[in-house]
Amino acid sequence: MFPRLMKPTAALVQQSTKQLSTGSQRNAKVAIMGASGGIGQPLSLLMKQSPLVTELSLYDIVNTPGVAADLSHIETPAKVKAFNGPDQLKDSLKGAQVIIIPAGVPRKPGMTRDDLFNTNASIVRDLAAAAAEVAPKAFVAIISNPVNSTVPIASEVFQKAGVYDPNRIFGVTTLDIVRANTFIAEAKGLDPLKTQVPVIGGHSGITIIPLISQAKPQVSFPDDQLKALTERIQEAGTEVVKAKAGTGSATLSMAYAGARFGIALIKALNGEQNIVECSYVRSNVTEAKYFSTPILLGKNGVEKNLGLGKLSSFESKLLEAAIPELKKNIQKGEDFVNKK
Ligand SMILES: NC(=O)c1ccc[n+]([C@@H]2O[C@H](COP(=O)([O-])OP(=O)(O)OC[C@H]3O[C@@H](n4cnc5c(N)ncnc54)[C@H](O)[C@@H]3O)[C@@H](O)[C@H]2O)c1
Repeated sequence: MFPRLMKPTAALVQQSTKQLSTGSQRNAKVAIMGASGGIGQPLSLLMKQSPLVTELSLYDIVNTPGVAADLSHIETPAKVKAFNGPDQLKDSLKGAQVIIIPAGVPRKPGMTRDDLFNTNASIVRDLAAAAAEVAPKAFVAIISNPVNSTVPIASEVFQKAGVYDPNRIFGVTTLDIVRANTFIAEAKGLDPLKTQVPVIGGHSGITIIPLISQAKPQVSFPDDQLKALTERIQEAGTEVVKAKAGTGSATLSMAYAGARFGIALIKALNGEQNIVECSYVRSNVTEAKYFSTPILLGKNGVEKNLGLGKLSSFESKLLEAAIPELKKNIQKGEDFVNKK
């Protein structure tokens, strides 16, 4: 029922290279905020690898000169520039069309994503304020957790600056989709590159709602396996946090997911049709003011919200359980900006 969900396959990269050589390529300037971090470095590498990117601006409070020098030797067209520390924040955003934000602290074992709120809320607020001033028309893709609250924070900041366009601010939930595709493909012996499982809601615990009933190709599981798979997708981040034993959370798979989403945004900007990704955006689909569903992306960001589709009764119950938690997370983000 949905147009194809995007996958950055070799074929897509080849297609991008061809576009570049035929001169139909537009300029795409991407800024990565938090570029020296566990996610930021591999994400910057993957964006540098894409021939769709013509300029790559790397901002962090530490270490960007080294990361940029290293990446700048890679034989792809993107010009890489380093911006280090708050004095260079605004310059890093000038002319950016896509801003990807993985800045902030990650979880340690025993922590929820909400436990990161106190540190990351102000980081995202300050980066959003600079973006609202310098690049108000850019697409902003937020990876920093808790995504359920950081997207409302950035949106409120843009609103206060008088430049809010709800179609241009995105919470990156792509890793949940990547994980769902992988786990379902493994369970059924499918090709993961051809498996598409929408995941809706938010990006933490019970707010993550995999729609296995809408998987392509169609799959079915006994109730107990369906429940176990759903819970594994919801808690997959914690699996990585535990395995990394205090050294961080998902970085490499997140960089892959962030690049998949970032490249989808660039393709949409370039006028490619049928670009669909799930993303946590301002939404009227449920009672929650922000909600992730499959989104048709276009030159102006969200072109069409493709909604929930048909839910199974199991998925309807997951949705019911998620809404109060999501609303609480959204309120917390809005209050953080408005009560200061
Ligand atoms: N959306 C998702 O699916 C998802 C998945 C995994 C992790 N995350 C989140 O991504 C964030 C980053 O994780 P990580 O593992 O890369 O952490 P990290 O600690 O390895 O890197 C974070 C980087 O942010 C930088 N930073 C801190 N304050 C900054 C500021 N004010 N401006 C710019 N940069 C700043 C740090 O210097 C560091 O380089 C965390 O909040 C984590 O929870 C999200």
